[in-house]
Amino acid sequence: MCSIFAYIGYRKAQPILLDGIRRMEYRGYDSAGIAVKNPEIQVIKSVGNVSQLQEKITQIFDGQTGIAHTRWATHGGVTDENAHPHFSFDRKVVLVHNGIIENYKALARQLQSLNIELKSQTDTEIIAHLIALELKSGKNPTASVLNTVKKLRGTWGICVMFADHQELVCARFGSPLLVGKNENEMFVSSDPHALHPYTDRVIFLEEGHIATLTQNNVELSSPTKNSVKAEIVTLEQDWGEAELGEFEHFMLKEIYEQPDALRHCVSGRMSLNQGIGRLGGMRLEPAVLQQTPHVRLLGCGTAFHAAEIGAALVERLARIPAVATISSEFKTNDPVINPKAIHLAISQSGETADTIAAIQEIHLKGAKAYGVVNVVGSTISRLCGQGVYIHSGPEQAVASTKAFTNMIAALTLFATQIGRSRHISKDQGVDILKELQQIPHKMEGYLESQGDIMKAVELLKDAKCVLFLGRGISAPVAKEGALKLMEVAYIPCLAYPAGEIKHGPIALLEEGSPVVVVAPNDSLQVKALSAIHECRARGAKIILIHEEGDSISSEGDISIAIPKCHELLSPLLTVIPLQLIAYHTAVARGCNVDRPRNLAKSVTVE
Ligand code: F6R
Repeated sequence: MCSIFAYIGYRKAQPILLDGIRRMEYRGYDSAGIAVKNPEIQVIKSVGNVSQLQEKITQIFDGQTGIAHTRWATHGGVTDENAHPHFSFDRKVVLVHNGIIENYKALARQLQSLNIELKSQTDTEIIAHLIALELKSGKNPTASVLNTVKKLRGTWGICVMFADHQELVCARFGSPLLVGKNENEMFVSSDPHALHPYTDRVIFLEEGHIATLTQNNVELSSPTKNSVKAEIVTLEQDWGEAELGEFEHFMLKEIYEQPDALRHCVSGRMSLNQGIGRLGGMRLEPAVLQQTPHVRLLGCGTAFHAAEIGAALVERLARIPAVATISSEFKTNDPVINPKAIHLAISQSGETADTIAAIQEIHLKGAKAYGVVNVVGSTISRLCGQGVYIHSGPEQAVASTKAFTNMIAALTLFATQIGRSRHISKDQGVDILKELQQIPHKMEGYLESQGDIMKAVELLKDAKCVLFLGRGISAPVAKEGALKLMEVAYIPCLAYPAGEIKHGPIALLEEGSPVVVVAPNDSLQVKALSAIHECRARGAKIILIHEEGDSISSEGDISIAIPKCHELLSPLLTVIPLQLIAYHTAVARGCNVDRPRNLAKSVTVE
């Protein structure tokens, strides 16, 4: 999604700006632009990627201050005019913006009544004009930005450069921004990852904060306080340069990274002699775990599927109600929130606006939320203040893979923790944890011998529609397989709990329709088998994911075996062939696997 990078210092800004936005390309975007003070403000924008922008830039400017942006269109089509940065009517102000201004139409009407002509269809451009009007009335840059943001409704991370003033001014409300500090230079970024090559000393702007930057100084203020103390923190985790190495795409590389990522996630977090997961960052005492009335898990997309698996694990191991809710539906439905309940907010990026909104609703109603997050220092991890990092390492492909399996691993540890304090015996806890320890090894075994993935790809690559089925804990795995195939190969997919097909989806089936069935050797396998028979009777071709040595294997037209495993841990293995099927089908269809159309890695708007 949209990204911001800015620089003020002693070096040429232009290469730094381009490098900064290139480091955030993985987030997904459709146009890019930069503005450099040289000493006149030069703005160059382009539809497409950063390389296309670079081709348009015919000289290296000497200017040492600049702002840059990649845009993921929300208001207005993908055009050069709508790309950021945007100038004010008098070209005294230029800015970049992440987020959505909800009252932009009303503000645009006010500007038009002042004969200010809007040059783009964006909600962003009006902010530049409003700041310019404030400047014209005699305010300084910081006060101009402050007075302007008071008129806005919605979300913003903005960075503003001025023709007649040296400083950069940034403001944050609902869209992350951080300032990086170095000797005689300052950086602004919407993503900590992009700052790593330049500095590890950063200031995370909090909601409502305004930062005024010069080359040597940063001053924070807010609508209620003239001065706010800036807390400098050290960035902990360096993603480093994620290299493709022997792999053609990041998605494939990240699928293969799952065994090591999972080892990293569970390492040091199991007490095997007590059969209990230890998640120190959650700071949950046994007494709290014992008294909690229910657990609610929140997430979007892949994180929601992990939440559904987590809910099943908590119910099975702790025997208390656990429910997974799609974050974007949570606040909307005016949820009843019990302050004693445990709320888990699950997110790879830690920046998903819908999940952030859900956490804010939980806080508003007096309860706590615990983050289950990959990106260290992200908004969700800081907002929750407690939780667990899933330690997947950088996920660069837009389609989430290794974060999914690590979310499930972290939730398994949590489920044993709450399970041991309420229901399961030490031996049961030990059994699950020992099995969990074996999963990376089993993943490696499967990756070495993947079965008939390419035969499945042949069946799927020209399909009109694909149905994914699973029962119990495999139903969310089926959903995840459908999401993966849909997002990277652009094939319409439906996913249902297998028992549900006879209530509707079976109407879709005709001779040759592909159906993917996830049927590990658990107590519900016999039910999955009935669904297979119902589908085959209508001419469907079955791609079956099953455990090795299992007699059900003969029921698939294409059968793909995963290693045998504990019935509660099967999602960690059954999902891998589905990820591979999605990946190879996308490649076979010539799709841009790592950057699927219209999608963003970090969805920072509601
Ligand atoms: C799917 C995918 C998305 C994300 C969703 C939540 O492959 O990547 O569905 O899972 O946007 O993102 P996070 O986990 O960052 O909150």
